[in-house]
Amino acid sequence: MTTRTPLMAGNWKMNLDWKQGLALVEELGEQLKDVDTSKVDTVVLPPFVDLRTVQTAVDAGKLPIAYGGQDLSAHESGAYTGEISGQMLTALGCTFVAIGHSERRQYHGETEELTNAKVKAAFAAGLTPILCVGEPLEERQAGKQVEYSLAQVEGGLEGLTAEHVAVSVIAYEPVWAIGTGEVATPDDAQEVCAAIREWVRAKHGDTAADAVRVLYGGSVKSSNVAELMEKPDVDGALVGGASLKAEEFAKIAGYQG
Ligand code: PGA
Repeated sequence: MTTRTPLMAGNWKMNLDWKQGLALVEELGEQLKDVDTSKVDTVVLPPFVDLRTVQTAVDAGKLPIAYGGQDLSAHESGAYTGEISGQMLTALGCTFVAIGHSERRQYHGETEELTNAKVKAAFAAGLTPILCVGEPLEERQAGKQVEYSLAQVEGGLEGLTAEHVAVSVIAYEPVWAIGTGEVATPDDAQEVCAAIREWVRAKHGDTAADAVRVLYGGSVKSSNVAELMEKPDVDGALVGGASLKAEEFAKIAGYQG
């Protein structure tokens, strides 16, 4: 059981246009009425084009939902066609941004250097990065999940201060568990989440290690979230598919009962 405020983040990926996104966020607001939202941070990561609508719905309904982007540009502004800057996200009330999701690494060739530049861009804009790391199946089969994930943590957080690391969120998402229904066991999740925290402790000290929130992601559902959250180093979940249904995601946010 975590000693930090649990964080449940819903990554909508490339799903739901703004009208569908509006319906989901309003329904989520309703469903969260049954959840003690003072005990959990509930975050949604909609597609960029839904963010303005989500902002309006959250503000109008005073919904206990924070939101953010699924990615951002490493650049501040300028001739970068198709990109979205951190400042544009903060101007919409975003407080979080996912960085280095395995789908960005795999389909968009995102490197460690780029991920690191994006983490820095997030802080420069006042956003909290959710840095995603995790091993592909071959690395897991070779027993290299810790080594592989820590190398991504090290690359992504390169050059950051202990103060920035303390307020960062790191999501451990084994690639073989994403969207496959193949959830890592609570012990698998704990192994890598604990190793990430110990890496932070060795590099940035106790304060940062005890504060940084480490999430698990990969086929999280309301039926398996509680057992994952029993582990001491799992501080929350990054949820894909199950975040597209308001009732299901609210149950995940309310896993404590
Ligand atoms: P999933 O996705 O919950 O659909 O497995 C998780 C993620 O990619 O963040």
